[in-house]
Amino acid sequence: MTKVLCFANNKGGSGKSTTCSSVGYVLAGKGKKVLLVDADGQMNLTLSCFSEEQALGFLEENKHLYYGLSSQVSPQTLVVATDFENLYMLPGSPALSQMEGVLHGAYEKQFVLRKYLERIKKENLYDYILIDAPPALSDWTTNIMCASDGLIIPVEASPWGLFGLANMLEFYTNTLLYAPDLQLYGVLVTKADVRKNYFKQTMETLSALPDVRVFSTVIHVDSHVEWAQENSRPVGAYAKSCRAAKEYVKLAKEIEEYAGW
Ligand SMILES: Nc1ncnc2c1ncn2[C@@H]1O[C@H](COP(=O)(O)OP(=O)(O)O)[C@@H](O)[C@H]1O
Ligand SMILES: [Mg+2]
Repeated sequence: MTKVLCFANNKGGSGKSTTCSSVGYVLAGKGKKVLLVDADGQMNLTLSCFSEEQALGFLEENKHLYYGLSSQVSPQTLVVATDFENLYMLPGSPALSQMEGVLHGAYEKQFVLRKYLERIKKENLYDYILIDAPPALSDWTTNIMCASDGLIIPVEASPWGLFGLANMLEFYTNTLLYAPDLQLYGVLVTKADVRKNYFKQTMETLSALPDVRVFSTVIHVDSHVEWAQENSRPVGAYAKSCRAAKEYVKLAKEIEEYAGW
């Protein structure tokens, strides 16, 4: 059975796209077949594995999620192979920013993405489908969450990072109305800088939250992450033994345990 996980938080810059591609890369390296789905108009997930030129090529060839949803062509025909074994991508496009308008008045508007991805899921081609959400609490993000079995909320270890978390958790609770089986896999602390006192405070605040699982893996600030992105590679593919790459290996293990593999 394909597990669908999404990475969502309305705060931009919290590490959603980085985490989605990094975890996908690790799982693929372990022999799992992984499909990354770029559901954000900023296309950062697409750019985590492809150059700008390649990404523009996908737009020209209509190989992207928005095209799929609007034309209803088979989603599998839009999937492109990355340079990495077992790792595939359904690219995003700037047009995804129009999804709010598209969903307005759509029939069963919470489930448009779920129904579309169901067509891939039922073929059982992938062990994991990982969806990167945009930084918004919108109908489109509801769609992404309703299409998923599990939710991972990356949170930046900063005052504003924590401030937004309450809204995100409330949004998750409200989404359970439509997707009662959606599990909160956990909150993931990213971009932690242990030299800053704020990191300690973040961990204390999070551990005091009732009923919220916090991943024991913490992702620290590591400049390799940015260099990897500059080179259109997930961090593990760019610098296998840097701190963040090793932490993402640990995180993937936690996720797999949770997913019950
Ligand atoms: N562990 C990290 N160390 C250093 N920089 C990071 C780390 N994780 C993410 N970043 C940087 O922070 C920015 C935001 O990350 P990103 O994954 O794009 O967040 P989001 O998708 O939530 O907007 C990016 O520029 C990325 O390179
Ligand atoms: Mg992003």
